[in-house]
Amino acid sequence: MNQDKLHATACALVAAGKGILAADESAPTIKKRFDSIATESTEDNRRDYREMLFTAPEAGRYISGVILFDETIRQNGAGGTPLVKVLESAGIIPGIKVDMGAKDLAGHPGEKVTEGLDGLRERFAEYAKLGARFAKWRAVYSVTDMLPSGACVAVNAHALARYAALAQEAGIVPIVEPEVLMDGDHTADQCEEVSEAVLQSLYAELALQEVNLEGTLLKPNMVISGTDCPEQASVEEVARRTVRCLRRCVPAAVPGIVFLSGGQSDVLATQHLNAMNKLPDSRPWKLSFSYGRALQAAPLKAWSGKAANLKAGQDAFLERAKANGLATTGSYG
Ligand code: 13P
Repeated sequence: MNQDKLHATACALVAAGKGILAADESAPTIKKRFDSIATESTEDNRRDYREMLFTAPEAGRYISGVILFDETIRQNGAGGTPLVKVLESAGIIPGIKVDMGAKDLAGHPGEKVTEGLDGLRERFAEYAKLGARFAKWRAVYSVTDMLPSGACVAVNAHALARYAALAQEAGIVPIVEPEVLMDGDHTADQCEEVSEAVLQSLYAELALQEVNLEGTLLKPNMVISGTDCPEQASVEEVARRTVRCLRRCVPAAVPGIVFLSGGQSDVLATQHLNAMNKLPDSRPWKLSFSYGRALQAAPLKAWSGKAANLKAGQDAFLERAKANGLATTGSYG
């Protein structure tokens, strides 16, 4: 493992003004997105949509990397060029989602454990050959008065660390993604408490398994109120709580933290990131984005499955990408 190379890639992914596009929707998820614009989820439509995003003029000014799904990393663009090469020529680093999804955790109703460790060493070797330089593994945690259980927190931390060690062995930067879900009526206070427990457990496990933190990135949720909580934390409160929680849990050796949007509206996701980067609190890591829905909702709608709307789709994507790029330095709005 070349630790300097891993560190350089991790730093490039959080370069000032830039962040990550998560375009790694699984087949059922992208079908759901396409259903919302009455477009069939065919291989060609998925390629056309994603190629539209990747070739948006000057996307590389705001987008440092793209997380791909297995199909996309093997796919050629409409002109015959592999999509990985299309990204590279735009100055964008290709990444890959490698987990096999969150499955029911035995003995723990309502909780999930992320699977995909079997055969992962071999899959990493192939993905590295295909051009992937970073990867993602997502674990999810539901919040109620009883959840998450200690078991759910422990097994997901264990799997995240095993994945991270295997990624680094293959020369690939692991993004570790523990997502405390926003579904439910829990308060921002509960979200903060759970996020803290999840992150403490994750970093203890990464240390135990000797993962090189300089060659990793963290992709967490923000500390926000549950979707159905009657009292919603303000933008400033979310920023303050999130940075406080991260300062308590994330070692200074981690180069960057790239948030997921998790179902927040696109504008709110940008406002939250911007507010965090405006806080005076000292921070050893960069705070950036790795948004799926918050970057794609607008271009998906503008495109609506029609080739004639390509430019409208790209314009909508660039508008969100630029806004989030500005938020990485606290200079949005
Ligand atoms: P969202 O920003 O839509 O939450 O997607 C990010 C992601 O990659 C979730 O795993």
